[in-house]
Amino acid sequence: MKKHLLAATLAGLSFGAAADVNIICSVQAEWCNMISTVYARTTGTKVNVSMKGSGEALAQLIAEKENPKTDVWFGGTGDPHLQAAEQGLTIEYKSPSLPQLHEWAQQQAKQSAYKTVGIYSGPLGFGYNTELLARKKLPVPKSWADLTRPEYKGEVQVANPASSGTAYTMIATLVQLMGEDKAYDYLKSLHKNVSQYSRSGTGPIKAVARGETAVSISFVHDGPGEKMQGFPVETITPSEGTGAEIGSMSIIKGARNLDAAKKFYEWALTPAAQEMAAAAKQFQLPSNKAAKVDSRVPDFKKIKFINYDYAKYGASTERRRLIARWEKEVNSLPR
Ligand code: G6P
Repeated sequence: MKKHLLAATLAGLSFGAAADVNIICSVQAEWCNMISTVYARTTGTKVNVSMKGSGEALAQLIAEKENPKTDVWFGGTGDPHLQAAEQGLTIEYKSPSLPQLHEWAQQQAKQSAYKTVGIYSGPLGFGYNTELLARKKLPVPKSWADLTRPEYKGEVQVANPASSGTAYTMIATLVQLMGEDKAYDYLKSLHKNVSQYSRSGTGPIKAVARGETAVSISFVHDGPGEKMQGFPVETITPSEGTGAEIGSMSIIKGARNLDAAKKFYEWALTPAAQEMAAAAKQFQLPSNKAAKVDSRVPDFKKIKFINYDYAKYGASTERRRLIARWEKEVNSLPR
């Protein structure tokens, strides 16, 4: 931790002191708190952070469009960041650090006309409670198909796609994997096994950790943090294939503290800032190629991925349509 603080201090000092910066933060609280505390301490900037899931953050930005109260949107799945870009809620900003980033992170910037950028990536999969599965004599689910088996009735949790980018990533992944109608048939069968749709994307794996549910649909990089706290949590990615998020960052159109927003944005792309994710027990793959990759970050080479079409599933009409279809055809069904 000391090393991180020192590196962050050095990175921060070169920018000098700045004004306030208002951030919507869509990663977990510990990471949001760490970056805001370290950034405030090292630059003298007053950092105001509000924590919101990816879908909720987008809804807030739409609501405050005429009178924006936010300068930077940090983190959360990339699809709603792309939707914000398309809807003119965020501004073009071409960071000089772009060449230091992985190709997928630069691609996220290019396809939004530089209105967002990738800051991390992580695969979607399942979390499970090893003790609960053993006690209930349930097997570890290995595929999307397994999750709809009757023995998992009431044992699965996933978030609500309207508020959570994690859950929207699941829908987009299934549509790309199965074709749209089959994906919605699948979601209807899955619905029978789901005990609860949480607001936040990490709600389900936290419920797994506490032993409230046996299985969650979650980003697998959220597993190690729960395990480090002593909970019997493991993760797996489905055998049919899965999608990955490109966690993103955007500067808000009409930001009142534009200079401060750009300074924070540049800092957030530095290796030292990105290594704070692991220090805050969050194990996404950092987008800066020079950032140290913690051994708990999922090994992408071992995972079967679909070729996720970020532009298509980040388009506003598509995202709205798929979520509305889920509300109408799936969420409304009895269980
Ligand atoms: C967690 C994950 C992030 C992800 C975020 C999405 O914080 O660690 O990688 O971007 O959830 O949150 P949401 O509530 O929108 O699903």
